[in-house]
Amino acid sequence: MADSTADILRTAVITGSTRDGRFGPVVADWIGGHIAQREDMKADLIDLVETPLPTVFPPFGQAPSDEVKAQLGAVSPRLGQADAFVIVTPEYNHSFPASLKNALDWHNEQWHAKPVGFVSYGGLAGGLRAVEHLRVVLAELHAVTIRNTVSFHNYGEVFGVDGKPSDPGCDIAAKAMLDQLTWWGQALREARRVSPYAV
Ligand SMILES: Cc1cc2nc3c(=O)[nH]c(=O)nc-3n(C[C@H](O)[C@H](O)[C@H](O)COP(=O)(O)O)c2cc1C
Repeated sequence: MADSTADILRTAVITGSTRDGRFGPVVADWIGGHIAQREDMKADLIDLVETPLPTVFPPFGQAPSDEVKAQLGAVSPRLGQADAFVIVTPEYNHSFPASLKNALDWHNEQWHAKPVGFVSYGGLAGGLRAVEHLRVVLAELHAVTIRNTVSFHNYGEVFGVDGKPSDPGCDIAAKAMLDQLTWWGQALREARRVSPYAV
């Protein structure tokens, strides 16, 4: 019998900001809602507040402590199982938050040969400078970044009290980005199956 779930793209949605009072979860829930409406994707919402990672790394060649292993155990397998990622990021000082860089740095093969889409938010620049910085970092991690980005400029004026943007153009942009992410996710998953990605 055919496995009806085989084509579903497991997509980790990572909320990058950890600030008290942050807006990030509103944006993550919105894009997670879009994924939930699709038959070809399934979202796993990873919140770096709920699954914090330490900022001190072990020496080269040494295993992390049991405590750190437990913290990584709440995140790393979920990244490893993902076929695709959506990173939800604000802009902090023209880049992305340190919490997100830390989560990227703790992992390596989990990103390899997988696609990453972005939903960004900020002031006038809509978090796009954060996204452009992420593209450079993710290239080093052998990930493939998606061309289309969903970005919210002056996001406070865009989202209603229902946690959704009032402009239907935002939903169109989300669909376009997720369509591209799905294309790459399915293509790369098949390519990894046929020939494991070698570094
Ligand atoms: C440390 C810090 C630096 C910021 N730098 C920028 C910036 O360079 N450009 C921008 O558009 N917004 C900037 N902002 C405003 C954030 O985009 C805004 O506060 C947003 O809500 C942050 O996301 P969060 O609420 O999920 O933490 C900055 C905010 C913080 C806390």
